Amino acid sequence: MSVTLLLFVFMCWTASTHADHHQPCRSSNMTGVLSVLGLQNEIKALAPYTYDSTNKKLRFRTDASNQWNATLDLDLLVFFEEGILYKIDSKNQSCVKKSLQSRVNPLAIPANAVFHGTMVFGSASIEGEGIKINIWAIPTPDLKGNSYMSVSMGCIPFSLMHLTDNSMIIFSNINVELEVKDPDLLAVPSFCQGLPVEETPEGTVYGFMTEFQ
Ligand SMILES: *[C@@H]1O[C@H](CO)[C@@H](O)[C@H](O)[C@H]1NC(C)=O
Ligand SMILES: *[C@@H]1O[C@H](CO)[C@@H](O)[C@H](O)[C@H]1NC(C)=O
Ligand SMILES: *[C@@H]1O[C@H](CO)[C@@H](O)[C@H](O)[C@H]1NC(C)=O
Repeated sequence: MSVTLLLFVFMCWTASTHADHHQPCRSSNMTGVLSVLGLQNEIKALAPYTYDSTNKKLRFRTDASNQWNATLDLDLLVFFEEGILYKIDSKNQSCVKKSLQSRVNPLAIPANAVFHGTMVFGSASIEGEGIKINIWAIPTPDLKGNSYMSVSMGCIPFSLMHLTDNSMIIFSNINVELEVKDPDLLAVPSFCQGLPVEETPEGTVYGFMTEFQ
């Protein structure tokens, strides 16, 4: 893990020497897979998702196969704009409605992100063997630590990394298609409707990312 970390910090450092004026771009609607890696590089979750970038709605639902032995089994419907997350248990037809104090979203660059630089994954000189990405620092004053996001030139988010003194979490965006394939996945299930919002314990910050910590 320390090697990965050092590499990333180094990349950010070299990248930052080329920083200039950039505006955060807005990602498209997407259907794909999000993987979530933890500190020991264990796979915390690997799940198909559906994302509506206009309304900032995300459905993230692990499937039953679990071929990578992910440690978490989750079904989350997130409304980043409204600051609401539904944690769904479809077997049980039960649901918990929570409010988001942190709105960090692995699929959107926030307006207050700070451009950090451009770099190339792979080779910059061999055609087809390199991917140019922009790196953004994502302010997370409500969570401890630092977040960085890498985004393709066409504004597809590649990864979001969150680091603290003793933890690391990396979201990677895989097998992306630029459409919402099944809008029904973004609708609140009937058994979740009309629920009261569960209170966040005093002094804690809850967010999508918190589900993986
Ligand atoms: C994204 O998908 C939503 C819901 O399916 C739709 O309302 C919206 O217009 C789409 N946005 C874009 C930019 O295509
Ligand atoms: C998942 O766990 C099973 C049982 O422990 C093991 O046989 C398999 O190799 C693991 N798969 C991966 C991808 O780690
Ligand atoms: C059913 O839902 C409750 C929460 O409402 C949960 O505590 C319980 O573990 C669930 N049971 C099963 C079998 O998933």
